[in-house]
Amino acid sequence: MYDILDEIRTLKKRENATILAHYYQDGEIQQLADVTGDSLNLARAATKVQTGTIVFCGVHFMAESADVLGHPGQQVILPDLNAGCSMADMAEIGQVEDCWETLLGSGVTETDILPLTYMNSSAAIKAFCGERGGLVCTSSNARGAFEWAFRRAKKILFLPDQHLGRNTGYAMGIPLTEMVVYDPWQLNGGITPQRLRDAKVILWKGHCSVHQRFLPEHVDKVRAKYPGIQVIVHPECRLEVCQKADALGSTERLIKLVEQAPEGSAFAIGTEIHLVNRLAKRFAPMGKHIVTLDDTGCLCTTMYRISPQHLAWALENLLEGRVVNRIQVRDDVKHWARVALDRMLEIKA
Ligand code: 13P
Ligand code: SF4
Repeated sequence: MYDILDEIRTLKKRENATILAHYYQDGEIQQLADVTGDSLNLARAATKVQTGTIVFCGVHFMAESADVLGHPGQQVILPDLNAGCSMADMAEIGQVEDCWETLLGSGVTETDILPLTYMNSSAAIKAFCGERGGLVCTSSNARGAFEWAFRRAKKILFLPDQHLGRNTGYAMGIPLTEMVVYDPWQLNGGITPQRLRDAKVILWKGHCSVHQRFLPEHVDKVRAKYPGIQVIVHPECRLEVCQKADALGSTERLIKLVEQAPEGSAFAIGTEIHLVNRLAKRFAPMGKHIVTLDDTGCLCTTMYRISPQHLAWALENLLEGRVVNRIQVRDDVKHWARVALDRMLEIKA
């Protein structure tokens, strides 16, 4: 009987392709993957892949980063080009360049400030940061990246996730009054030159629409319903949620927290629903109770777009000599994006 998963395994072998998959991917994709991980571990994995093709089961910015970090001549395929990230789309390179001009026009000098971008951004923005002495970070190493930047400059422009930036700055003891939000849709970001000069962290007005749905009242509700439950959330959640949580972490860290917990533990997890459901199923036999922080679910629709059918289609085309959905970063952009990514890979997570 025809089994699409078997077909994918056969094609993958024949075409000498490596499948990298983010933890938010559906279970079947996880089973097919050579490597699963959070965005930091997938970036590390991309530097080590030896095959000529990487099929990236994740979203566009992750595939771009794999293209930047992979070997020359390697090709990166994203099985569905609609798999984007709404947060990454909230910062466009032209807007970022305008923001930089506004900063310099306000009297902030290039020696005062470094641009730092979350992995969830375009390669062009990563290159912008690399060229100006800055770097990339993920939710695993945002603190290390902030510390790296503050050893070299007084201020940070953090793109594009205001929540990760605020949570990181706040955890380092930077008062909220020293963090301002730059709105790319307002004249001069909607901030006075004086505020721009005074701020220690300038946060881009971007967010993850999935994680922003978690609210502090969800934490109160789940604690009332399950006394003793531990609330663990991704740092893309708003500050008010993170402050109420027992722990924060990247997808990798959230998984580790559950893995390392003793039998009988209970967790409410504030992140993407597929991952939460998979953890709930996997750890139920070990007596660990896992629920989502918000009952209405929290689905990353773009991550969810990659299906076994898309994967099979991309590999079947390869077999017929056609490369479909190739993600290719321009050479000039690649150079500086690589600089920014390499700086990230050198800092401690
Ligand atoms: P991680 O780096 O934690 O995997 O996060 C990626 C992401 O997009 C979360 O929404
Ligand atoms: Fe982007 Fe949010 Fe989806 Fe992560 S969960 S890929 S930040 S839209």
